[in-house]
Amino acid sequence: MSIAPIAPILEAVGVAKTYGDGTTALGGVSLAVHPGETVALVGESGSGKTTLLRTFNRMVEPSAGDVRVEGQPVAGLDPFALRRRIGYVPQDGGLIPHWRIEKNVELVPRLLGWDRDRRRARTREMLELVGLDLQAHASRYPGELSGGQRQRVAFARALAADPPLILLDEPFGALDALTRLELHRQFLDLKKALGKTTVLVTHDLAEAFRLADRIGVMRAGRLLQLGTPDELAKRPADPYVEALLEMRRV
Ligand SMILES: Nc1ncnc2c1ncn2[C@@H]1O[C@H](COP(=O)(O)OP(=O)(O)OP(=O)(O)O)[C@@H](O)[C@H]1O
Ligand SMILES: [Mg+2]
Repeated sequence: MSIAPIAPILEAVGVAKTYGDGTTALGGVSLAVHPGETVALVGESGSGKTTLLRTFNRMVEPSAGDVRVEGQPVAGLDPFALRRRIGYVPQDGGLIPHWRIEKNVELVPRLLGWDRDRRRARTREMLELVGLDLQAHASRYPGELSGGQRQRVAFARALAADPPLILLDEPFGALDALTRLELHRQFLDLKKALGKTTVLVTHDLAEAFRLADRIGVMRAGRLLQLGTPDELAKRPADPYVEALLEMRRV
């Protein structure tokens, strides 16, 4: 008996982006991400990782190509529908500094018109999930938390409307090694508990190997290879991928 292939939750087909000043950030990227998997995008600074991630939730409109979420072209979805389906943690965490933590976490539920009690219950649940205490943290401002705590709030906010797909742009950057390890552990626990599909941008290959089911290597706006860590290590499709993996060994 053959097993029916599982439909991808996210698909990019020939996605290209040239900015107004003529910079080509993406030169035609195609990929498919399947339900429940974590895909890490790695590559040097300026290789197009953030741009690609932002085409997935329409924060960047591609110059060419298509993005589909659960089979539907995102170009035709209204922003509210998209926010319900896609949680997003931007590269800087993106918390609104003059909003208390509680209000930050409630951002999408508010946009979706949830009533106060439902929002409050959800905020409590999400903060607990990421290891923060409602009593101690909910009424502070982002500037009154540590960097690691802010990262957790950004996660909580991305998860608040229970989207099936989550986009994380260097969520563990600029943290000390111990906090990073602790957040990695939490990420893997959450992954097991919630079964979300995640696309994670990082320039730390060790992090990608630790957290991802598949790794995509980007360079100069192209996706050179997308495969399991084992596939990348055993069958690098490009000398750059090979060199990158060599660096990991030293
Ligand atoms: N709004 C913009 N206008 C013009 N060029 C842009 C714009 N945003 C990004 N770029 C350019 O597009 C290219 C890709 O940028 P992008 O932010 O996607 O890189 P990245 O891989 O996320 O890098 P990093 O690891 O430094 O975050 C870079 O050359 C960048 O300067
Ligand atoms: Mg970036």
